[in-house]
Amino acid sequence: MSTHIGAAAGQIAPRVLMPGDPLRAQWIAETFLEDATCVTRVRNMLGFTGTYRGEPVSVQGSGMGQPSISIYATELFTEYDVQQVVRVGSCGALAESLALRDLVIATSAATDSGANKLRFHGLDFAPCADFGLLRAAHDSAVGRGLAPAVGQIFSSDTFYNPRPELTDLLADHGVLAIEMEANALYTLAAAHGRQALAICTVSDHIRTGEQTTAAEREQTFGDMVEVALDAILAVPLR
Ligand code: HPA
Repeated sequence: MSTHIGAAAGQIAPRVLMPGDPLRAQWIAETFLEDATCVTRVRNMLGFTGTYRGEPVSVQGSGMGQPSISIYATELFTEYDVQQVVRVGSCGALAESLALRDLVIATSAATDSGANKLRFHGLDFAPCADFGLLRAAHDSAVGRGLAPAVGQIFSSDTFYNPRPELTDLLADHGVLAIEMEANALYTLAAAHGRQALAICTVSDHIRTGEQTTAAEREQTFGDMVEVALDAILAVPLR
């Protein structure tokens, strides 16, 4: 048992999917895994372990924002020896080329968080995805006809952004979309020598204000989970 995850040692698989919402973790476990059991309920941040195509896989809620995912990802890496984490989340689109429900695979993630300024004493670290997971997710998405966008995203510490004019600057530099967790996940995976990837579906368009319906989000979310599961099974554990 770790501080924020109630599972016993050995109850979490080396491969983990991380949605932000703990009820999404439950839905993933019930919909896609065989023999899934709930392994942690601490703070209602649910986690499950089962199998997918015969391989052990866990699903752990991350909560919203980089402080929250940092707690769970750190404990997954240090207390449970997790090797691969794929975040399955939503994002707000910046790029004009993106439409609602599109899949975005993050090669790297910039941020307004101060966490890496502390970690790296002011120098700029460029957190990036594991290439094997990235390639496998891309291949899976293309194979499923999903035409994923691949590029840099921005992990914001605010959902209600006090400086919306900055989104134009990011868009002008080719940043595809905004979410709230990937930069921290990629940094922690690097710090612990593990593999991580963030995949997001576009839930809203920041520049046009369009939003998906709940039913659309569920369908798109399921497609993304299948891509994430394909990706983690395609990459051998080191
Ligand atoms: N901002 C930050 N995170 C998000 C957004 C957004 O607009 N949409 C979905 N996740």
